[in-house]
Amino acid sequence: TATEKGNYRHFMQKEIFEQPTVVAQTLGSYLRRDDYSVALPQFEFDISSVRRLTIVACGTSYYAGLVAKYWFEQFARVPVDIDVASEFRYREPVLEEGGLAIFISQSGETADTLAALRHCKEEGQTIGVVVNVPTSTMAREADLLLPTHAGPEIGVASTKAFTCQLAVLAALAAHMAVKRGLMSRQDEMGVVQHLLEAPACLNAALDHDDDIAAMAHLIAPARDVLYLGRGQDYPLALEGALKLKEISYIHAEGYASGEMKHGPIALIDEDVPVVVIAPSGPLFEKTVSNMEEVRARGGKVVLISDAKGIEDAGEGCMATIEMPQVHPLIAPLVYAIPVQLLAYHVAVVKGTDVDQPRNLAKSVTVE
Ligand code: G6P
Repeated sequence: TATEKGNYRHFMQKEIFEQPTVVAQTLGSYLRRDDYSVALPQFEFDISSVRRLTIVACGTSYYAGLVAKYWFEQFARVPVDIDVASEFRYREPVLEEGGLAIFISQSGETADTLAALRHCKEEGQTIGVVVNVPTSTMAREADLLLPTHAGPEIGVASTKAFTCQLAVLAALAAHMAVKRGLMSRQDEMGVVQHLLEAPACLNAALDHDDDIAAMAHLIAPARDVLYLGRGQDYPLALEGALKLKEISYIHAEGYASGEMKHGPIALIDEDVPVVVIAPSGPLFEKTVSNMEEVRARGGKVVLISDAKGIEDAGEGCMATIEMPQVHPLIAPLVYAIPVQLLAYHVAVVKGTDVDQPRNLAKSVTVE
């Protein structure tokens, strides 16, 4: 059952491996396989009239929102304001009439996120909620309920809820684009097809579990680790750093690849591994020069990319983790897997309490 570990050593490990199944389940309720269209559940609200989107969340859910900001802006051309809940409420955010505010939460109970939701409700925003616990407070207070179907998540560090949130948000962004007349029927079918490919690609990513376990000892002795990513994969660098901090207690920072030269480069030496999350693509060359900057300072690069990216990067990485070649839309879902597995295996090497890391709670119900 969902609340037993089965053959897995930890709930977190089990939940990482459940992702192909639960992402497929989640996508199944937002995409139609018969005509390859996006169909959101009980959606009566006219999303085409939304002029501005506000996204609020905490922790890993916030990083899902950061990825989604790229999608909402790219596909639906709607401006997105995104913030962590604890900051959002107290900075007097500007909320325009007719705005849609989306709250992302695994538990649906996080106190800061809930308080931000209620604030937006008072300000007349339509409240969308992407939530994993259907009986939660946030689910009850939503105008538009967008459930993830990840099943119970027990490990304190969120994994499967994250990829399911991404699945819902990608469908919502596509839906919005269609309703706003910005996505043709053909493009919609393409998006649906790519999303439906995600579970198989997640499985292919999971096949690298052994490789990742074998290289975890390279990261385990580090005191600091830097994660780099760009574009919609930049939030994955933030998420990778968060996962590592949470369960292995190694200090880690996520940075936009291009921003490295404005600070973190000063930290780089042979003791600071740099994890680069970079599927091949038009901007890959820029990432290669970032990696060269790291290597020139004695830094050790762990490159997570596809076969083409690994080839283009050439020799000189301390380690590489090869992902399947995937459509850019689903890259953040697929690349979440190696990032989660790396943190997991490093924590196992270090012998920390993976499912119950010190000082952290599964659901933070105090402000
Ligand atoms: C806690 C958990 C994180 C989670 C965050 C937000 O910090 O340890 O894993 O991402 O809360 O929780 P939520 O339930 O709102 O997604």
